[in-house]
Amino acid sequence: MLQFPKDFIWGTSTSAYQIEGAWNKDGKGPSVWDAFCTIPGRTHNGESAQVTCDHYHRYKEDIQLMKAMGLKVYRFSISWSRIMPTGRGKINEEGIKFYSDLVDECLANDIEPWAALNHFDLPLALEFELDGWTNPQVQDLFADYAEVCFQRLGDRIKTWITFNEAWVVAMLCYGLGIFAPGKTSNSLPYQAGHNLLLAHAKAYRVYDEKFRPTQKGKIGITNNCDWREPLTDSQADKDAAQRALEFFFGWMTDPIFFGDYPQSMIERVKERLPRFTPEESALIKGSTDFIGLNHYTTFMAEHVSENLKASMPYSNSGIAEDQDVNLSTRPQWEITDMKWPVVPEGLYKMLKWIDERYDRPIIYITENGCAVPDKVENGQVNDTRRINYLEGYISNCHKAMKEGVDVRGYFVWSFLDNFEWTLGYQMRFGLHYIVPETLERIPKASAKWFKKVIEQNGF
Ligand code: GAL
Repeated sequence: MLQFPKDFIWGTSTSAYQIEGAWNKDGKGPSVWDAFCTIPGRTHNGESAQVTCDHYHRYKEDIQLMKAMGLKVYRFSISWSRIMPTGRGKINEEGIKFYSDLVDECLANDIEPWAALNHFDLPLALEFELDGWTNPQVQDLFADYAEVCFQRLGDRIKTWITFNEAWVVAMLCYGLGIFAPGKTSNSLPYQAGHNLLLAHAKAYRVYDEKFRPTQKGKIGITNNCDWREPLTDSQADKDAAQRALEFFFGWMTDPIFFGDYPQSMIERVKERLPRFTPEESALIKGSTDFIGLNHYTTFMAEHVSENLKASMPYSNSGIAEDQDVNLSTRPQWEITDMKWPVVPEGLYKMLKWIDERYDRPIIYITENGCAVPDKVENGQVNDTRRINYLEGYISNCHKAMKEGVDVRGYFVWSFLDNFEWTLGYQMRFGLHYIVPETLERIPKASAKWFKKVIEQNGF
């Protein structure tokens, strides 16, 4: 058994749209996802999260399950349109009450609440009225919403995450169009990314200046990145892998540490990449107390030469032409239901890359996990594949820590099976199985395994 520091944080993660349900209850306004799921063909079998795990009504039961697992930290997200139904102006007191009760229930059960302010679910009104994240006005609206959350919940929530995966919002929502609001473009992702980064910076400054002195919490951002392994030893492939990481993690992290985008992006994206004014650069530089990393998988990266350009089996998400990187898998890699290769050492390499590039930042792994098929037998799920996955990735996290990488915590995605965006309910990421008809929760073998990890580390 690997030993982690006594104060290492072991947790699980969820997100509002994926688990809450109650999509139009108690004054909540619609989010872009509420609307997107009603468009035929957008999600698997037309599924939506109108009810999903019904966490909104069953959160007390869920917190008891967390307690039974020995969890000490729970990372969830707040639905902006539950707090402000149109994204601005009037506050929905019933929305505040839900999160306030959830936080109280966590604390009463000795579980520390960590909250993300946004996990893909922009209020629909802001998409209709302002074109969502592509409009700079949304930066300040986000900071206003963040301020309401700090004001009303910050006496009890001591760790804030501004955004979960700004890269996904920029790329999948405004580039590839496979996530809400479903827009496709090769320039909107860069505009959205720019506004998300500045919205993050503004929310950070609000917390830092107005709330930190009394509330004494911390605030950061969660960015996602897969590892990119050079396909061959050629310098061209090594450069391609590095470039792919810069276009992925560097895009949303370099500005926060260095005040500007990676040079590779500036050179390749040219006028489609918005640039920071000196004031904006100063605002964003240094605007995080830690880096949250969501990491799941690894792909091989190959430089795309002119004659390879025509055939790209794995394009790197719509703006591949800006990167000239082709992605592929290795035949020996195990593949999950998401079609993501299981490559535990990818996490080790990713952590080392972050550690070096950003000069030893504090890192929390805010998501890691896998979707594999589950079979319920005699009321139990024996999910050996998930346990092996977690064991492999946690060991590689440990290895990086032994070499000095400052990882302070690890959160499994996810606490329970839930709505997996366009893929609906077919993906089973959870440590608890959800029976589709009754929404009954069944702890999987991985939940018991994770409990043992927590106990043996004396957390
Ligand atoms: C992350 C996302 C989660 C969950 C997970 C598994 O990118 O933050 O919401 O969907 O991937 O796909």
